[in-house]
Amino acid sequence: MAVQGKVALVTGAASGIGAATVRRLAGAGVTVLAVDVNAGGLNDLAAGIGASVHPFTADLTDRAQVEGAVAFAVKQFGRLDILVNNAGIGSLARATELEPEEWRRVMAIDVDAVFFACRVALPHLIKTGGCIVNTASISGLAADYGFTAYNTAKAAVLGLTRVMAIDYAAQGVRINAVSPGFTLTALTQPMPQGIQDMYAAAVPMRRAGSADEMAGVIMFLTSPDASYITGQNIVVDGGLMATTGAPDHIAYFTKLMGTSL
Ligand code: NAI
Repeated sequence: MAVQGKVALVTGAASGIGAATVRRLAGAGVTVLAVDVNAGGLNDLAAGIGASVHPFTADLTDRAQVEGAVAFAVKQFGRLDILVNNAGIGSLARATELEPEEWRRVMAIDVDAVFFACRVALPHLIKTGGCIVNTASISGLAADYGFTAYNTAKAAVLGLTRVMAIDYAAQGVRINAVSPGFTLTALTQPMPQGIQDMYAAAVPMRRAGSADEMAGVIMFLTSPDASYITGQNIVVDGGLMATTGAPDHIAYFTKLMGTSL
């Protein structure tokens, strides 16, 4: 395996896309420091995979804990090759109803923690010719009604990805983002079924993505097959961002006339 023997740190590892990424990396022979605030989830994940996954409990709203996780990985395993900044939380409130505390919490986890982790990991990644993958979102590329903090945070992650990519490209570090569309995880599971159905109906592939479909693209970006890719954002959304949002005229007339055009 091309990434065998490498060392990775994955945040938001206890659930969803992070957990799927840990499974893929560990399956390819990578030693993984799995970081999350959910200690129980981390232990279950590690127990289900094996000794190459090391749970590390940290609250990423705290800069010292973010930096502590990176320092631990380097001290414990002697190197760092791959950083996956994946932890994230959502928020639903228009600007006038969004409490400043909620805004700050979203920014702390979705943006600040990404910056703080990259900042301290980069010197180690320069040594190994390593890479960073940030889990952004299609919500960083366009707006969703009421996603005030989340849209802003994910756009910031994309900006941060690009500027760091060009700043560290000459030193051999590749930095990219993956932007999932609607993906079935603990993050989206609380959405009412009606909203989930409307979401899936808006996706040209007519379904949500899976955590593993996102992890596969993260995995690709960490691999030598992506050796000339940096500063990019790969959208993994079943075609949603390819639409203008206009209604499907053909589907409408087909339903109206009871026959296909
Ligand atoms: P998830 O909720 O299944 O996993 C997120 C993980 O982050 C959880 O294990 C949670 O404990 C951890 N986390 C949250 N706050 C933390 C903190 N303060 N410190 C440490 N860990 C913390 O969600 P999912 O869907 O796997 O999300 C992963 C990433 O994908 C997030 O950045 C999210 O914004 C992004 N994303 C998800 C989409 C979806 O439809 N599920 C769509 C687009 C982007």
